[in-house]
Amino acid sequence: MNNVELINYAKKAMNNAYAPYSNFCVGAALLTDDGTVYTGCNVENSSFGATICAERTAAVKAVSEGHRRFTKIAIVSKAGGYTYPCGICRQFLSEFSDENMEFIFEGKDGTILTKSIKDILPYAFNGEWRNI
Ligand code: THU
Repeated sequence: MNNVELINYAKKAMNNAYAPYSNFCVGAALLTDDGTVYTGCNVENSSFGATICAERTAAVKAVSEGHRRFTKIAIVSKAGGYTYPCGICRQFLSEFSDENMEFIFEGKDGTILTKSIKDILPYAFNGEWRNI
């Protein structure tokens, strides 16, 4: 699965975005360590805080199907250009990745940009509390 293919999966998922309040449609495509792709879109709610981002939709689909190791995620939005994930999604995805998980973005001119989770979530909360 190359990065352009993953971006294309994300674009397809974006078509299912339910975003009547923000009108900001997002799509994500997540690759797991065995090569399975899970896609997601944002799903808004009239109680705004209940909204779920595209990235977490994809992650929850993967985990609920038994996949807990993520290697890559591509993210696109209707606005076009680099669509960086929100802080909650960065933290959520870090639970199921190592520091090399790749985030794939597409610029308005079609340039593909990749960042590791270490780049975009430095000094992450690491769950050491579990050893207390
Ligand atoms: N959104 C995502 O789906 N992913 C992000 O990383 C940031 C924001 C959605 C949530 C909401 O439906 C809309 O974009 C506007 O915030």
